[in-house]
Amino acid sequence: MKTKITFIVLAAGKGTRMKSSLSKPMHNIAGKPMISHIIDNIFATGSKDIITVINNENNDIKDYLKSNYPQVRTTIQESQLGTGDAVKSVFNSYNLSDSDGIIIIFGDTPLLKLETINNLIKSISRNDLTITCFESENPQGYGRIILKNDKLHSIVEDAETTKNTKDIKLCNGGLMALKNNGLEKYLDLLNNNNNKKEYSLTDLVKIINDRKGTCDYIKCEELELFGVDSKIGLAKAEKEFQKRLRRKFMAQGVTLTDPDSVFFQSDTIIEENVEIQNNVYFGKNVHIKSGVTIRSFSYIEEAVIHENATIGPFSRLRGNVSIGVDCKVGNFVEIKNSVLENDVKASHLSYLGDSHIMNNANIGAGTITCNYDGVKKNRTHIGENVFVGSNSSLVAPIEIGDNAHIGAGSVITKNVAKESLVLTRAPLKIVSNWAKKFLGNR
Ligand code: UD1
Repeated sequence: MKTKITFIVLAAGKGTRMKSSLSKPMHNIAGKPMISHIIDNIFATGSKDIITVINNENNDIKDYLKSNYPQVRTTIQESQLGTGDAVKSVFNSYNLSDSDGIIIIFGDTPLLKLETINNLIKSISRNDLTITCFESENPQGYGRIILKNDKLHSIVEDAETTKNTKDIKLCNGGLMALKNNGLEKYLDLLNNNNNKKEYSLTDLVKIINDRKGTCDYIKCEELELFGVDSKIGLAKAEKEFQKRLRRKFMAQGVTLTDPDSVFFQSDTIIEENVEIQNNVYFGKNVHIKSGVTIRSFSYIEEAVIHENATIGPFSRLRGNVSIGVDCKVGNFVEIKNSVLENDVKASHLSYLGDSHIMNNANIGAGTITCNYDGVKKNRTHIGENVFVGSNSSLVAPIEIGDNAHIGAGSVITKNVAKESLVLTRAPLKIVSNWAKKFLGNR
C-alpha cells in the first residue's frame, strides 16, 4: 500500500535580517525563488500534497504560489510563536487524518537535495520521528543533538544550551519526518517555557522518546541544510548552487573553459558538444543547442541558439531571441526580440532589435535597426542574402527585399525592393592640395 505523505513547508518567519521588501523564501537562487526549489524537489519525489505556512504579510508568497503552484495549499500563522506553533496552525486549518506521514521542511533551505527528501519519506515506515543533522565546527545558532547510546535522545535549542551542551558539534538541520500517529496530540504537549518563549518543534523528540516512540537521525553535509538568513547567506547558497549547475553541465558533455566564471539559471538548457568560454552569464529561459560556441564575456537571456552557431565574444542577447543554425554573432552585437534564420552573420558592433533576418544575410559592422520612434517599437525585415553595408541605419518599420545590397553608411527610410542596390550618400568632395594651401609649407 502506498503511503500518503503531507509536506509542510514553513515560511512564516519574519526574515528581518534579509532587510528586504521581499519575503525571505521569495529570494532567488539561480533565478528561481527558494520556495520554488523546495516545492519542485518535493514534486520530484512524486508527492503532491504540500501545505505552506506563511504569515499575514507574505502576500508575495501567496500570489506566487497561486499563479505557479495552484495545487499547493497555504495556511496563515497569525503570530510567529515558533516552529511547533507553525505546524500546529496547519493541523488547525486542515484535516490531515488521511496522511500516513508528515514531513516538515523550511522554506529557506534551497540546497536541500532530492535524495535527502526521499530518505525522509522512507524513514516514516521505520520511525515515529526522523530528523536531519550535520556536524559543524561552528554550531552556534543551531539546535544541538543529544545522543544516548548512539540514539537520538533530544534536541537542545541554541538559546537553551549550557556549558555541557554548547560545544556539541552535531546540529539539527531543521527537517523532520513524522508518522502521523498521535502527532496532533504530541503537538498539544509542546510548551513555551524556554528563553525564547517559543513552541519548538524540536521538543517533539523528547516527547516521543518519553512515550517509547522511535526517533532517529539522518546525517547530511552542513551546506545541504544551510538556511539562508541574510543577503550574505543568499550569496553563499547561490555560489554552491552554481557549482552544482556547472558540475551537472560538464557531466552532460558541455565544455566550460573556466567553470567558476560561468553563471546559469535553474531553467538553463544546454545540449552536448557546446563550448562555453570564460565570463559568460546566462539569464532566464536560455536553450543552447548542440555544437554551439559561446565566446567570452557574453550575456544571454531569453534566447534559443540553434546548432553550430557562434556567439561572442562580448555579445548580448535578450528578450526573445532565436539564432539559427550556423549563425555568427560577434563582438559588441546586441540582439533583442529578433529572429536570425540560418547562416546569418552579424560579426561586429551592431544593434538588431525587433527584427527578422532571413537566411544568409550579412549584417555589416555598425548596423543599427532604428526600432524605436520615440513612441513605439517597429519591426525590421531583412530578406535572404541581403548585404547590409557597414554603419547603416535601417529606420523601422522597414522591409529589405531578398538579395538587396545596402551601401555602407546609408540611412534607409523606405522599403527596398528585392535585388536592388540602395545607398544614401552625402556627395564626396575632394580639394586637391588643400593641406599645402591651408597650412603652408611645413
Ligand atoms: C531551527 C531549529 C534548530 C535548527 C535550525 C536549523 C527549531 C525550534 N529550531 O532553528 O534546531 O538547528 O532551525 O536551521 O525548530 N518559522 C515559522 N514560524 C515560526 C517560526 C519559524 O514558520 O513561528 C519558520 C521560518 O520561516 C523558517 C523555519 O521555520 O523557515 C525555521 O525558523 P528559524 O527561526 O529560522 O529557526 P532556527 O532558529 O534557525
